[in-house]
Amino acid sequence: MDELKLKAAQAAIRYIQEGDIVGIGTGSTTNFFIQEIAKSNIAINGLVASSAATLQLLHDYNLPVFALNDVMLDVYVDGADACNDMRQLIKGGGGALTQEKVLAAASPKFVCIVDITKTKGFFQHFVPIEVIPMAKGHVAREIVKLGGRPELRLNYTTDNGNVIIDVHGLDLSQPMTMESRINNIAGVLENGIFANNYADILLVADSDNVSVIQG
Ligand code: 5RP
Repeated sequence: MDELKLKAAQAAIRYIQEGDIVGIGTGSTTNFFIQEIAKSNIAINGLVASSAATLQLLHDYNLPVFALNDVMLDVYVDGADACNDMRQLIKGGGGALTQEKVLAAASPKFVCIVDITKTKGFFQHFVPIEVIPMAKGHVAREIVKLGGRPELRLNYTTDNGNVIIDVHGLDLSQPMTMESRINNIAGVLENGIFANNYADILLVADSDNVSVIQG
């Protein structure tokens, strides 16, 4: 699968231009993209990281890094755990969903890079939710009312000091509605449904080629 993730990452390079400020997601696919950016000769202005892990990798490659508060993004590149043909995503497998959604919202262009396996099972996928620790019991009870089965991600704290509740069994037939409903629960910081902030361009790598899905 790494081979396909690398292919998707390589295909995303064509969306990066000289002088760009590039937001960068979190995960193994975006790690390949960071490697490709470092190898390329494109004179980008700099990058904005979505997590401590991504920030560390950017430093390891000696790439120029900015804080989001100091710059305007030109493009955001990230992977996903699942996607549908409307370019809506489920993210947060790596726990960085809140910063990822902020960067997706702050960027005029969101390029999502996935291997073909991510195109299967969107509607059955669990939804990660970042929750402030004192609210986890309350949030879990409200999630049950929405039809979900909450499971606390064990031994895990987000970069923001919060917990992740992975929610199984939700009805995702109306992703935008479910995204809003979950975020309306007091104590929820953000959830991993990217239906309002869907990808502008979805690059899907399979063994033959990379498909470009866009509006
Ligand atoms: C992290 C994410 C990742 O984009 C998602 O988990 C995909 O990861 P990978 O590229 O390793 O398959 O949402 O919060």
